[in-house]
Amino acid sequence: MTARNATSNDDAGSRERIPRHLAIVMDGNGRWARRRAQPRSFGHRAGQKAVRTTVEYCLRRHIGVLTLFAFSSENWKRPDTEVGALMDLFLKALDKEIDELHQNEVRVRFIGELSAFSEALRTRMHAASLRTAGNTRLTLNVCVSYGGRWDIAQAARRAAEAALAGEIDPASLDEAALAPYLCMADVPSPDLLIRTGGERRISNFLLWQLAYTELYFTDTLWPDMDATQLDNALDDYAHRERRFGCVPDPVTARAS
Ligand code: FPP
Repeated sequence: MTARNATSNDDAGSRERIPRHLAIVMDGNGRWARRRAQPRSFGHRAGQKAVRTTVEYCLRRHIGVLTLFAFSSENWKRPDTEVGALMDLFLKALDKEIDELHQNEVRVRFIGELSAFSEALRTRMHAASLRTAGNTRLTLNVCVSYGGRWDIAQAARRAAEAALAGEIDPASLDEAALAPYLCMADVPSPDLLIRTGGERRISNFLLWQLAYTELYFTDTLWPDMDATQLDNALDDYAHRERRFGCVPDPVTARAS
C-alpha cells in the first residue's frame, strides 16, 4: 500500500464519525485498588470487567477493531506477585470469556513477544486465536508483552531476512514496503486512542500505527470506564477534524 492509499483509507473512518479502530491504554487499575485499600491485583480484576464492557460497547457501536494494551514489554519489571496475578487473570479470563466472544463473532488475537509467556498461556492464546480466526464482527487485538519499538524492530528484522533471501530489494525498502511486516498490518491504523488514568503519554504503545491517530486522555481510572465514558470519548472524536497533514477541506471549514 502506498502512503497515498493509506491516507485515503484512513480518511474513510472519520467521515462516518465512528472510529473503525479503537485503541486503548488501560491505565489506573493500581490506583483504583489503592483507593479501596486493596492489592493491585484487585484493580486488575476490576479492569477485566471494564474490558468486557468495552467489548460489548464496540459490538453495539459497530467498531470493527479494538486493540487493548494489556501488558507491556516493561511490565515484566513489576513485582513477581503482580506479574503472577496478571498471568493468572489472563488465563482465567481466556477460559471464562472465550465462548461468549466466539458466540459474538469476535476474532481474538494476541500481539507481542508471546514466547515470553508460559507454555500453558501460549497454548490457550493459540487455541483462542485459532478458534475465533474466522469471525468478522469485531477484531480484538490483545497486546501482551508488547512494545511499539519491539514491533518496529521485529518488522525490520523480518524485512532484513527477506532481503537476505533475495525476496525484496533493500533499496526499495520504504515506509510502504516495511508496513506489511508490522503486527496488525491487516487492519487499518487506529482512528482513536483512549488512555485512561490521567497520564498523557503513549508509553511505547503502537508507535508506528499512531502516526495520525486522534488522542483522547481521561482521568477516569480504567476499572471505572463504562459506556458513558466511552460515549464521551467517541463524541469528542466525532468533532475532531482529521487532516493527515493536509490543509482543511474548504467546504467543511466554511460550514464550521
Ligand atoms: C495498568 O494499570 C494496567 C495493566 C498493566 C494491566 C491491564 C490488565 C487488565 C485491564 C486486566 C484484564 C485484561 C484482559 C485483556 C483480560 P496500572 O497497574 O499501571 O495502574 P496504576 O497506574 O494506577 O498503578
